[in-house]
Amino acid sequence: MKSLTVCPCCGLPSLLFAIFATYLAVRVTESIFAVNQDAAGRLKDSVFVKGLRLASRSLGVFLVGTAVFLFLLRNSPSLQQRFFSILCSCLASNPALDARRCALLEGLHGTVVELGPGPGTNFRCLGGEDAGSRITNMILLEPNTFFAPKIAAEKEKYNVRFPVQVVYESAESGAAWQAIRNNSVDFVIGTHVLCSTADNEQVLAHVSRVLKPSTGEYRFLEHVSAQDDASFLGLSQRLMAPVFNTIAAGCSFRRLWDVIPASLPKETFDVQIEHFEAPLPIYLIKPHIYGTAKKRLVDA
Ligand SMILES: C[S@@+](CC[C@H](N)C(=O)[O-])C[C@H]1O[C@@H](n2cnc3c(N)ncnc32)[C@H](O)[C@@H]1O
Repeated sequence: MKSLTVCPCCGLPSLLFAIFATYLAVRVTESIFAVNQDAAGRLKDSVFVKGLRLASRSLGVFLVGTAVFLFLLRNSPSLQQRFFSILCSCLASNPALDARRCALLEGLHGTVVELGPGPGTNFRCLGGEDAGSRITNMILLEPNTFFAPKIAAEKEKYNVRFPVQVVYESAESGAAWQAIRNNSVDFVIGTHVLCSTADNEQVLAHVSRVLKPSTGEYRFLEHVSAQDDASFLGLSQRLMAPVFNTIAAGCSFRRLWDVIPASLPKETFDVQIEHFEAPLPIYLIKPHIYGTAKKRLVDA
């Protein structure tokens, strides 16, 4: 409970911090008004003074509101999951990133497993006649059940023809993978998901186990941490990480270009990774990687 009641920005008790910050902001602003009024006497009822006072009080309300909202999100996993399902559904569509997304998912066939599909964002690249004839079945591993209606709607919208099974479990858990046999999957895909999974090594151990030797591929597109920790972007990500983590249900900035190759057995996988800057409006999540990990045929 201790970690749930602190401000995600600074570690101070959240409500206390917000109330203190509000009080300080209002007092400082009002003391500036007082000095100005005493010295000049002209600012008393000016629009400028009224505007400043309104701004200081609005800031206070905003601070308290934000702190209360973050506090509720951190203390209620269900509220956090529900909020994130709405947020993610609203932000999922980005035409410029969709081009990259669909290029990555080009040519999928056979059995496909998707890690963390969210609102079914990737259906836009997989629907229609053509993909329907190449993909034979798809299994989605998604722990957040609030995405269910959106997944169904996107499946319909993009005319997904192949059978889709949704397993509402996290991708680390054995339960998610228990029906999937060793060496039986043609493709595992994951977009914007390894930033949230609690144990990437465990997830990728499952991926490694189920992919078919010699032809199986893991394809990924992820947002990552800044390559240079000391850069302004790196600093901003570290500063905002606790808030981001709360709003985005556990998402954090990670060095996934190191994590992915390190978590897949070197003797079994050829990993190709490219860095790129995603055309997204949110500065913190611009650094991206995409790539493939191809499973080799390894002698028994
Ligand atoms: C940012 S959303 C990305 C959704 C979608 N893949 C996309 O590209 O828009 C992250 C998704 O990962 C899911 N997720 C989080 N932790 C997970 C886990 N341990 N196993 C599987 N999925 C997870 C979330 O519920 C959410 O659906």
